Amino acid sequence: MWRNGSDRYGLVAILFHWIVALAMLGLIGLGAWMVGLTYYDPWYNRSLALHKAFGVLVLVLAAAKFGWRIADRPPGFGPEVKAWERAAATAMHWLLNAAIVLLPVTGYLISTSEGAGIDIFGLFQVPALFVISEGTRDLAIEVHFYLAYGVLALVAVHAGAALKHHLVDRGSTLRRMLVPRSPSRRVD
Ligand code: HEM
Ligand code: HEM
Repeated sequence: MWRNGSDRYGLVAILFHWIVALAMLGLIGLGAWMVGLTYYDPWYNRSLALHKAFGVLVLVLAAAKFGWRIADRPPGFGPEVKAWERAAATAMHWLLNAAIVLLPVTGYLISTSEGAGIDIFGLFQVPALFVISEGTRDLAIEVHFYLAYGVLALVAVHAGAALKHHLVDRGSTLRRMLVPRSPSRRVD
């Protein structure tokens, strides 16, 4: 139940997927909202502090998720999934996983570019490791921006494909990412 099977996801992979997915979508919403606030808004500083702390948390979660993925190989695709769909899904998972790492990394570079550390919920500071030039910082801001909204477009296709497999093809793709056991097998 904890680990992946040959044709199903285990509970750990399922929890990692949905916690990281929710955190990413939440941070995109928070980021889009926070950049529209004026200096006089009471949330002006608080929203960025929360964005940074939760963003760093995503990086820690991502490291744990990838560590687990090496220890627990993902299941194969269901028999109803066509060859081109397997290739597209694999490419999509690579792109989304890359964004899960690159968004916090570029965010970290933006926020620490002048040598200030990142406060994590008032508990401790993540130190600034690199001091970068203004040009590099601007590049990091641009990459952060396009990646964040790019993820929205990718997720629309990703979630759309999952729904199509569930509703039209009646396959197990979505179910096996929701329930940690084989949906099509009975033991009795
Ligand atoms: C982990 C996933 C993350 C996502 C999905 C994300 C998403 C976003 C989004 C959507 C924006 C608004 C962009 C705009 O409309 O201009 C933004 C801005 C920003 N983010 Fe993140 N972010 C993440 C992590 C981080 C982290 C870890 C940090 C810093 C430690 C960070 C620092 C910033 C800063 C400083 C801005 C404002 C950039 C500017 O001046 O325009 N982000 N982020
Ligand atoms: C919100 C709606 C979402 C739905 C319905 C959904 C659904 C799914 C499903 C059904 C799978 C399993 C595919 C398979 O069996 O091959 C999957 C895998 C995956 N999804 Fe999502 N997903 C969503 C959001 C996200 C988000 C926001 C991200 C990241 C930004 C994401 C990243 C991934 C990744 C990397 C995988 C590969 C397995 C893993 O590493 O966890 N998904 N998703």
